Amino acid sequence: MELFEDCTVGKINLKNRIIRSATHDGLADSANEGPTDELIRKYVYLAKNNVGCIIQGYAIVSEDGRSNYPRCLGFFNPDAADCYKRLTKEVHDAGAKIVAQLAHCGRQTSSKTIGIKKIAPTAKRHLLYPDKAREMTKEDIARVENDFINSIVRAKEYGFDGAQLHLAHGYLLHDFISENGNKRKDEYGGSLQNRMRIVKEIIEGARAKAGNFPIWVKLSATDKRKKGMNIDYSVKVAKLLEEYGVDAIEVSCGSVQDGMNTMRSKRFPMDAIFAYREPLASLPRVLNRIVLAMAKLFNPLIPQPKPLEMYNFPAAVALKQAVNTDLILVGGITSLSQMQEALNAGISAVSMCRPFICEPNFAKKLKDGTSSKSSCIMCNCCGLVIEKEPVHCLMGKVKYPLKK
Ligand SMILES: Cc1cc2nc3c(=O)[nH]c(=O)nc-3n(C[C@H](O)[C@H](O)[C@H](O)COP(=O)(O)O)c2cc1C
Ligand code: SF4
Repeated sequence: MELFEDCTVGKINLKNRIIRSATHDGLADSANEGPTDELIRKYVYLAKNNVGCIIQGYAIVSEDGRSNYPRCLGFFNPDAADCYKRLTKEVHDAGAKIVAQLAHCGRQTSSKTIGIKKIAPTAKRHLLYPDKAREMTKEDIARVENDFINSIVRAKEYGFDGAQLHLAHGYLLHDFISENGNKRKDEYGGSLQNRMRIVKEIIEGARAKAGNFPIWVKLSATDKRKKGMNIDYSVKVAKLLEEYGVDAIEVSCGSVQDGMNTMRSKRFPMDAIFAYREPLASLPRVLNRIVLAMAKLFNPLIPQPKPLEMYNFPAAVALKQAVNTDLILVGGITSLSQMQEALNAGISAVSMCRPFICEPNFAKKLKDGTSSKSSCIMCNCCGLVIEKEPVHCLMGKVKYPLKK
């Protein structure tokens, strides 16, 4: 397989095997949670600069699944229909495909944000969002399933080329699949089949209403949670996903509770953490700087997950041996040679997030031969910026004083 060739990945025809992985851009319209002109311009730029497929940043399917990040996309308000239709048309006109990532935040939000008590498969605290969730009733499960199904139908109506279910990074469906997040005793917990039931029912429901519309998933094949995801377990999950008729699996890792495992870097971006994460960001300025100075002293001692590059490759290779479903590799892919290595191992496409935040024209540079390596230094500042602002690249430098 070649990087630059016409191909079909997860039932979608692409001009190459380069995908922009879902990235919360923080550019939704605050009124209807649909895309703004700024977001459309950003995606058109990616499309014109040779990205084969854009996976839209996560869009929330239910009002009680809202994100804590400001200006997150939503799929539950029909008022946003025209904006989404314009987005997909303009991306298509610019030559790329576009897939809608659909999510429910579950425990990874706060009850304050959603205005009611947040929900999860099991009532459990979250390290970073400590208010306790309420265990979902069967009525909640049926309602959320329905919201996912209706969102897939909407994605088709809006002109997306496919939908991607977010089963990764600690969000609601990840919690259902993982024994760590799901201690239910009913038919939605207790065994692998039961933990996967919600995903199966969403896919069955979507097939009944949206036919053959491509359905992809993003899976955290590994995480650092006790009784969480590991490669052996994920192989079994992938076999079930294949049986349910999922068209492509994007292989990722981690949960927000793992720290920076999903997007790895050598050190925690302490400057950005103290600038953008509450309650630290709101500390009086002098106190903020004193605690930051201490945190920086200890930062080198905090162990970080390794390796820093291609870190989901072993999991993707293991899944490749078990299923025929198209696999997409994400996580720490920085160079042309790594991309080709993944394709040589039978992975159908590579997807990247930070390299495109840093250089939105990276795919064009690869095609033109003007670059073979991303300029992203993987400082992870962009992962903190989104707590307050639209995503942008800081290249490791937080400028003080910040506007608050
Ligand atoms: C600013 C930012 C926003 C992200 N938003 C999403 C998102 O909306 N959905 C998702 O599945 N992953 C999201 N991710 C994770 C990326 O898609 C990707 O899995 C991760 O960054 C590893 O890929 P990379 O090494 O190419 O950055 C985000 C990552 C960053 C840095
Ligand atoms: S802030 Fe820029 S350089 Fe740092 S990880 Fe994000 S995209 Fe890369």
